[in-house]
Amino acid sequence: MKTPLLFLLLPLFLLALTARWSPVIAQDEPEAVLDTMGRQLCSTATYFILPAISGMGGGLNFESTKNGTCPFDVVQDEDEESNGLPLAFSPVNPKEEIIRVLTDQNIRFAIDTLLPQPTVWNLGDFNESARTFLVETCGSIGNPGIETLSNWFRIEPFDDDYKLVFCPTVCNFCRPVCGDLGIAIQDGVRHLALGSGLEPLKIKFKKG
Ligand SMILES: *[C@@H]1O[C@H](CO)[C@@H](O)[C@H](O)[C@H]1NC(C)=O
Ligand SMILES: *[C@@H]1O[C@H](CO)[C@@H](O)[C@H](O)[C@H]1NC(C)=O
Repeated sequence: MKTPLLFLLLPLFLLALTARWSPVIAQDEPEAVLDTMGRQLCSTATYFILPAISGMGGGLNFESTKNGTCPFDVVQDEDEESNGLPLAFSPVNPKEEIIRVLTDQNIRFAIDTLLPQPTVWNLGDFNESARTFLVETCGSIGNPGIETLSNWFRIEPFDDDYKLVFCPTVCNFCRPVCGDLGIAIQDGVRHLALGSGLEPLKIKFKKG
């Protein structure tokens, strides 16, 4: 009779051990964003943001539509073969190296540029007639708070892929406009933008 009892007790003991340890192992963090190879995105690498569905244009780029000074507009290359420019992500917690969903990030074009202007994304002003906010550059990295509200973007799961969202949580008392980023065509150019009438751009991340 002794052996069966031991057999019964041993699994219970192991179960108790696992239960005891699981709160330490399980962390309450949102899941990591995965690239097209299924690898976790990290803050030390660069990626191309590409439409997840073919026939929806190429990668992201920036272009000066004004007089060559800040800010530049974030646009989508029309050519489906184009990867656009590589991008890098900096999570709101600078110690975090993994890029996670539902987490505020600074996003920048990771290029050496002779231009003095920074390439960090910033949500521009509301355009009344187009009813959109265009994504521009010339934001800054870090310093989460009211001053940098328009510099924080997040990645969210969208069906089996992802979408970009502006809804910063870096300021407790702020009530920022929130929404998905889509493509707004202005003067024939495909602008990355936030606007109530825009379909979210379904995206994937290809390591650059
Ligand atoms: C560029 O245009 C903006 C207004 O659109 C103006 O404020 C700025 O001074 C101009 N910069 C140069 C260098 O001309
Ligand atoms: C606002 O949007 C309209 C329509 O797309 C565009 O023609 C106009 O230049 C925009 N205004 C500004 C200030 O960007």
